[in-house]
Amino acid sequence: MALKRAFIFLGPPGAGKGTQAKRMAQRSGLAHLSTGDMLREAVSRGTELGRVVRPIMERGELVPDDLVMKMIEERLARPDCAGGLMFDGFPRTLAQAERLDAILESAGFGKPVVVDLSVSHDKLMRRLTGRWTCSVGGEIYNVYDAPPKTPGICDHDGGKLVQRADDRAEVVKERLAAYDRATKPLTEYYQRQGVLHTVDAAASVDEVSRALSEIVERAERRDGHL
Ligand code: AP5
Repeated sequence: MALKRAFIFLGPPGAGKGTQAKRMAQRSGLAHLSTGDMLREAVSRGTELGRVVRPIMERGELVPDDLVMKMIEERLARPDCAGGLMFDGFPRTLAQAERLDAILESAGFGKPVVVDLSVSHDKLMRRLTGRWTCSVGGEIYNVYDAPPKTPGICDHDGGKLVQRADDRAEVVKERLAAYDRATKPLTEYYQRQGVLHTVDAAASVDEVSRALSEIVERAERRDGHL
């Protein structure tokens, strides 16, 4: 496995991890690994993994670490991961972060570039309950702030827009609680390693993108890629 560069997007549900990771992956050509998308695909295909995780995700709880790690390790073996990685929604617990460190190290990587998309919980409910996603290409919209040109239809490929089952208000509350409990401590973990960058994710999508581009550019200069 010839991994080159790894970026990690941290942040609460609705912070914009998927929106920004998709944009950055399109620009950079790095493989975009969203554990949420992978798990939802397993649910919609009705695989054994999907049947196990479906009720957990519907309650807004985290999927057990061993299931997530098995899925990620299988994914990392695929050839498109050879040029570098962009993790979205992973790692989400200390155990996942420590396991990922070991994987990256054994594949000859230095430390990852970690970005925490920081935004207060009160802004997130509107983002999540207003989110619609293209059922074909995964493009993300928001009926309040970033609506499609034609309601219910993707601007890019004409796909039908759908809402996620876990974007109901009561499930969002549990997802935010799970984030505070298990994932927020990772900011300290990566801070201690000196690899954490914090971005104000309450800013517009374009402003957040610009801040991320600057972080990437600085990291590339530091590592001698520019
Ligand atoms: P996952 O799919 O990872 O969901 P999440 O972390 O809860 O994050 P979201 O996808 O809801 O939000 P996002 O930050 O990507 O925001 P987005 O860009 O879409 O996980 C789902 C579930 O899977 C978990 O609850 C868990 O059960 C399980 N799971 C996944 N990974 C796991 C793991 N590693 N371990 C254990 N369990 C795991 O944007 C949201 C909305 O806001 C959109 O409408 C968008 O248009 C809008 N928006 C984005 N940016 C902005 C902006 N700057 N200004 C205004 N609006 C914006």
